[in-house]
Amino acid sequence: MIRVAILVSGRGSNMQKLVEAADQHSDKIEIVLVASNKPCDAITYAINRNIPAKIIDRAAYDSRALQEEALAAIIEEAQADWIFLAGYMAILGADFVARFANRIINIHPSLLPAFKGLDTHERALQAQVKEHGATVHLVNAALDDGPAILQAKLAPLPDEDASSLAARVLRLEHQLYPFVLISLAHGDLVIEGGWPIWQPKKNRKHLNDDATEQFLSTAVIWP
Ligand code: GRF
Repeated sequence: MIRVAILVSGRGSNMQKLVEAADQHSDKIEIVLVASNKPCDAITYAINRNIPAKIIDRAAYDSRALQEEALAAIIEEAQADWIFLAGYMAILGADFVARFANRIINIHPSLLPAFKGLDTHERALQAQVKEHGATVHLVNAALDDGPAILQAKLAPLPDEDASSLAARVLRLEHQLYPFVLISLAHGDLVIEGGWPIWQPKKNRKHLNDDATEQFLSTAVIWP
């Protein structure tokens, strides 16, 4: 059984997909906490689902360090093994990242290392990229950095605008992030020494069905 905390700041669609994955694998995954740095829809959803939910409001603390100290305390209190960032819109400080070293995972709407930061879809279109997508990666103290765990790709359509591209990438994210969570819970993905290691297909205990293979055929696996 893995114990998971999810950090959010906004609408929480990725968080919902993680919660649904935990529901479907309740013998392997427990969402022990949803925490945010401000009031948001994601927290409302978690409360309605009876998931332990807390707002550690940045506005109530004198510094980011103090806010992160409070956040770290409730994560430790919840005894979370893993922290999944799902639209947590703040850069985590080095102390926080070190405290949970190699146990923080993020999803970012670009094919990292391309387009770190905000407005990824607009910038991808401006750059006329042939491929765009989303990345799940381990978190270190630099913005949208850290070893990639899994990416999913798509090709921008001719004349596609940023909102259409964002919606299509979000659909990929909703497959990608639960896939990583479930893989981690079943030991098909392990994190060792700060690096993701995927078990070869023949050794995967779970997610070795046709639908998964189809999904993985559009994804790129590291290492
Ligand atoms: C997603 O695009 C995610 O990749 C990024 O922030 C967005 C969060 O969306 N980190 P949601 O709150 O999960 O709907």
